[in-house]
Amino acid sequence: MGYEFIEFEKNDKGVGILSINRPNALNALNWDTLRDLGNFIENDFPNENLRVLIVTGSGGKAFVAGADIAQMSEMNGTQFKEYTDYAHNVYNLIENNPCPSIAAVNGYALGGGCELALACDIRIASEKAKLGFPEVKLGIFPGWGGSQRITRILGNGKAKELIYTGEMVSAEEALRLGLVERVVPHDVIMKEAKELAGLIASRAPLAVSAAKKAINKGSEMDLQNALNLEKELIFSCFNTDDKVEGMKAFLEKRDPEFKGK
Ligand code: CAA
Repeated sequence: MGYEFIEFEKNDKGVGILSINRPNALNALNWDTLRDLGNFIENDFPNENLRVLIVTGSGGKAFVAGADIAQMSEMNGTQFKEYTDYAHNVYNLIENNPCPSIAAVNGYALGGGCELALACDIRIASEKAKLGFPEVKLGIFPGWGGSQRITRILGNGKAKELIYTGEMVSAEEALRLGLVERVVPHDVIMKEAKELAGLIASRAPLAVSAAKKAINKGSEMDLQNALNLEKELIFSCFNTDDKVEGMKAFLEKRDPEFKGK
């Protein structure tokens, strides 16, 4: 694929690991890194063959330390708008991709890095991870989706406290708040992420994708429309080969073999 700032590998269970790979800058998303990420998601994402995507950071110290402050400091308004529009598009593509995603937060997840983790479906943090939105220390505020996605997860009060202070929280505090779903020892984070991904990958892929869509889209709707969407999506699952296989396997007391059809 020829990317300089991301790495991607896929195992035989359909689990892909996408690493942001710019460790000497704590994986901060400068233009080149963001563009590699965007190109991969838009052009090289192995849609058919991937059942779960894990997103993580290289180097063991950071998930992603945010947008690149050195580059931003040199940008004019037009350039910053282009940078931000691009990041929004990439994060939306990850959030809306039918493939479920897990952020393996293996260190600092700050600003645009925390926002990347929030665009993923599930977050697992190493006990060494620190998460937060330091943007107000820089004269901006979380503008790559953070002020909106974090508020939907934490509620207005806690989101405002985090954003207004710019303070980081520990992994344990993030777990208590519901900002991450699990905290694990640092040296086993990828093992835990792969195990969780493997478990999800073993389930009926179209059903998992339908559930993702029902939750993501439904949470933007009023309840009645969301319930209608849920019905529409479960009806689509009911017409799949995987539904036949799943129910047959249950009755035959064996593990199902899902094909994603
Ligand atoms: N942008 C550019 N470079 C960064 C960076 C960033 N966001 N974060 C870290 N780096 C670079 C540092 O400049 C340093 O480079 P040099 O070795 O060339 O000096 C290298 O990564 C290592 O960082 P530190 O020496 O600072 O490491 P540390 O362990 O002392 O501190 C840290 C770690 C607390 C994460 C600190 O690096 C830090 O505060 N980073 C900035 C975090 C931040 O403010 N992120 C938000 C960015 S704004 C944003 O994301 C806007 C938005 O909404 C999209």
